[in-house]
Amino acid sequence: MSFGKITAVAHYAPEQVVTNEDLTKVMDTSDEWIKSRTGIEQRHISSNENTSDLATKVGQQLLAESKLAAEAIDFIIVATISPDASMPSTASLVQAKLGAVNAFTFDLTAACSGFIYALSVADKLMTSGVYKNGIVIGAEVLSKVVDWTDRATSVLFGDGAGGVLLQSSSQGPLLLSESLKSDGSRSQSLTSNLTQPNSPFSKATQENDLFLKMDGRAIFDFAVRDVPKNILETLEKGNLSPEAVDYFLLHQANSRILDKMARKIKVDRAKFLQNMQEYGNTSAASIPILLSEAVASGTIKLDGTQKIVLTGFGGGLTWGTLVVKI
Ligand code: ACO
Repeated sequence: MSFGKITAVAHYAPEQVVTNEDLTKVMDTSDEWIKSRTGIEQRHISSNENTSDLATKVGQQLLAESKLAAEAIDFIIVATISPDASMPSTASLVQAKLGAVNAFTFDLTAACSGFIYALSVADKLMTSGVYKNGIVIGAEVLSKVVDWTDRATSVLFGDGAGGVLLQSSSQGPLLLSESLKSDGSRSQSLTSNLTQPNSPFSKATQENDLFLKMDGRAIFDFAVRDVPKNILETLEKGNLSPEAVDYFLLHQANSRILDKMARKIKVDRAKFLQNMQEYGNTSAASIPILLSEAVASGTIKLDGTQKIVLTGFGGGLTWGTLVVKI
């Protein structure tokens, strides 16, 4: 039987760093407000690179690390809510830039759960036995979709990309347990790029609203109510206790959310890795960036000995947990 194994991880963020102090020069905010409310201290903001450029940097690193030829890649999935375009997909642009001529490609849109959803889909492709090598990337240039006149949202987000290489292996399943969730009835609390019919024959009454809009309180409540429940249910489904988990890698939106999650799940807060202080909220990129940094520092090892919880939550609404034997 064939399984997918994560054999390489990588991340990339634009060079330009914008601190909270830098933001005070362009809007009415303060380092104290941002840090105390969210834990965020700085974010990387692209000056000229688009989402596919960031994702390509990640793909190049994955290939270099694994010494795999670009032609050996069977598929590329890019999770993003800030693609270069609706068409072509960002994944197609990455394929061309990498020279991965044999890969099929598609983008996946599930906001801050995007990477979790994409990894789950990729795992099924790998267990089909049809494919040998696949790339899954979360990549965002959110700085192009936030409304820079809205201090309540613009201070929260950043740009970056992270990803993994999956290779076929006989070592056993990558996912010990999983549970992906969506609730479209709450979709209006987090929206971006709302477009209306526009033709000589249309009768649209609403305006386009291209910027990212968020009801922060509603999303905060959703995160602390629905997400810990989802983590506990997913662990239970896999006959695992929270104590059996080495590390929890959750979407990096707000350190107060992580504090509350750790209390609700009743595990040591130190097991919840955190880097939003350096990157802000990078949506689909946040979990793979965190994973890549943890592997680089030696905290997480890709040797099949650790159990890791990966949990995303965000627009859709979407949320979900994968328990990964990494
Ligand atoms: N600087 C200074 N003051 C500000 C700023 C700012 N950047 N932004 C808002 N304020 C003010 C508001 O105007 C308000 O002032 P008022 O009381 O005089 O009206 C006050 O601060 C409080 O604003 P709230 O929005 O109520 O602040 P809150 O404590 O709820 O924190 C936050 C806001 C940080 C956004 C929080 O709600 C949050 O983290 N929500 C969750 C976000 C999240 O997890 N998103 C994940 C999904 S993202 C995705 O999927 C793309």
